[in-house]
Amino acid sequence: MPRVFFAVWPDDTAAKALHAVAREAQKGCRGRLMRRETLHLTLAFLGDVSDDRIADARRVADALAGEPFDISLDELGYWKHNRILWAGGVSPPLTFLAKDLNDGLRASGFRLDSRPFVAHMTLLRDARCAETPVFTEPVAWPVREFVLVESKLSSDGARYEAIGRWPLGMPSA
Ligand code: 2AM
Repeated sequence: MPRVFFAVWPDDTAAKALHAVAREAQKGCRGRLMRRETLHLTLAFLGDVSDDRIADARRVADALAGEPFDISLDELGYWKHNRILWAGGVSPPLTFLAKDLNDGLRASGFRLDSRPFVAHMTLLRDARCAETPVFTEPVAWPVREFVLVESKLSSDGARYEAIGRWPLGMPSA
């Protein structure tokens, strides 16, 4: 069964800047650098689901009425328990979008992570940071859509393929 999740993707300029932040952080933390084109913020993780259930998830996304917004990532965090170094930032519109999506998916019978949503973009895996690096320059981009992504594991890490796109600011069906 396909492994899928909803996410927002940075534009090329922001992805390049975030990848540079990750490369810099790797000097102190070591770990595995995420490829530039895979950098993203997850909104809702569905896990392995059947094609029928993916159709249900699409219907939930169709019914959302999100507005476009700008986001700025300006902090780095390090989770020791899973050795992830991540970039984040406070963004009420992103949190609302994630909440609407997760609420809709739960109402449609999906069992999702019950932990509170923490907007985070994984930059390094298997990182060992003695100190959490500091973000020098915030990275911002306009969020104009969210995507449904299928994750395919390959020998050099996960490959992501967008299997659905929902523009923000469009009237809901
Ligand atoms: P991570 O970067 O913190 O591992 C694809 O794997 C995306 O889904 C990643 O953003 C990953 O977050 C997230 N993800 C993987 N497993 C998850 C889970 N059980 N709950 C929430 N998000 C998860």
